[in-house]
Amino acid sequence: MTESPTVDTGTGYGRATPSYDARLAEVGPGTPMGEALRRYWHPIATSATLTPDVPHRTRILGEDLIVFRDGQGRPGVVYERCAHRGSSLYYGRIEEDGIRCCYHGWKFDVQGHCLAQALEPGRGRRRDAARQPWYPVEERYGLVFVYMGPPERKPALPRYDCLEPLEEGDQYYAEWPVPGMGVTGLVQDCNWLQVYENSIDPGHTNWLHSQHSGYQFVGVGTTGFPENFFDPDAFPDNVSYARTAFGAKSEIRFLDKAENGVRPVLGFCAELHLPNVLVLPEGVKLAPDARPDLVLWFVPSDDTHHRLFFSVRTGDPERMSRFALLITQNGKQPWELTEEERQRFPGDAEAQVSQGPITLHSEETLATSDRGVVMLRRLLRTMVDDVEAGRDPLAVSMVDEPPRRVEAGLFTRSTATADETASAVPAAGA
Ligand code: FES
Ligand SMILES: [Fe+2]
Repeated sequence: MTESPTVDTGTGYGRATPSYDARLAEVGPGTPMGEALRRYWHPIATSATLTPDVPHRTRILGEDLIVFRDGQGRPGVVYERCAHRGSSLYYGRIEEDGIRCCYHGWKFDVQGHCLAQALEPGRGRRRDAARQPWYPVEERYGLVFVYMGPPERKPALPRYDCLEPLEEGDQYYAEWPVPGMGVTGLVQDCNWLQVYENSIDPGHTNWLHSQHSGYQFVGVGTTGFPENFFDPDAFPDNVSYARTAFGAKSEIRFLDKAENGVRPVLGFCAELHLPNVLVLPEGVKLAPDARPDLVLWFVPSDDTHHRLFFSVRTGDPERMSRFALLITQNGKQPWELTEEERQRFPGDAEAQVSQGPITLHSEETLATSDRGVVMLRRLLRTMVDDVEAGRDPLAVSMVDEPPRRVEAGLFTRSTATADETASAVPAAGA
């Protein structure tokens, strides 16, 4: 009698229908995450490029909005559809005190007050009955921020000690020196959280950016990274994650090059503040224990798109280019690659956008290198729970507070002897 062969049932056949976690991924009005995100300020445009020239159309948290600067220099954010009969204010004309709809000449100021109705008796004696939906804005760090949540819960716009005060000669740079940036940021074709999760996934640097994108970082700048920084085998022992007052941070410890018989133990830190803020070292010309100078925001456009904004505090205009053009793929910028080169030398976009318009959480197999991602998701779920329960979420303050202390970059933790190896470096908290 022949025995029936053992059947390997682990094929792709019959697998469960995939799904994403809507509570994490969806950002529109009325969704749990959408309401939580609406309790924070978000960048919507860069200050320098928002001129009283033409209005700009943008989508943020699933809402189509117009951002403009009136003739008096005031930034404004209003709902795109005119309160009269719905023409887009994208085709409106900017005037000294507001924006005027092209269709019948109704004019609105930066807070949506109707200032004029061109075809109505007396140019609109009853114009006070109309109000264009609008949102509060504030300008800081070279960016225009918008608050889209309940007016009575409007928090203070957070400050960061890496951006203020300015040092002598410093100014803020918020423009990407890349094609297609525009006034309202460069749109990325996937859910915002995929890229924000990457912020607390430092292991991808040890693999993607060194093994696939083409080896980089080493030997550049004043410090450069020694070879052991990218050693995948050292990563599990050298990485750590921690909760902070405003979110979470990651740290990779590694041994720097020997000097006078000692090797400094350095910690490379990136810090996240809820809900979508990343304080990141630039990665080039890193000087240990230097003051960080860069904040990034990952702003959802809708469920399947987001935009990146940043502010760099520096007196060196080249500093911004070094940051924005830092990570290359086979030595090239992403927009210079052929399709085949993208396959052979994938970078962040290939890895993260290919997770799908919204990644399918039901198909994930989370492991130890995902501890930071798990920590972030837990924080975000708590944020959503807090808002649903009527509480103010983490990292929200109703009063203007001193700049938040952030720690991002290289920091000297201790020293080792010249003959110690990378695996001897203890992770933070180990
Ligand atoms: S639709 Fe805007 S003025 Fe009529
Ligand atoms: Fe990356």
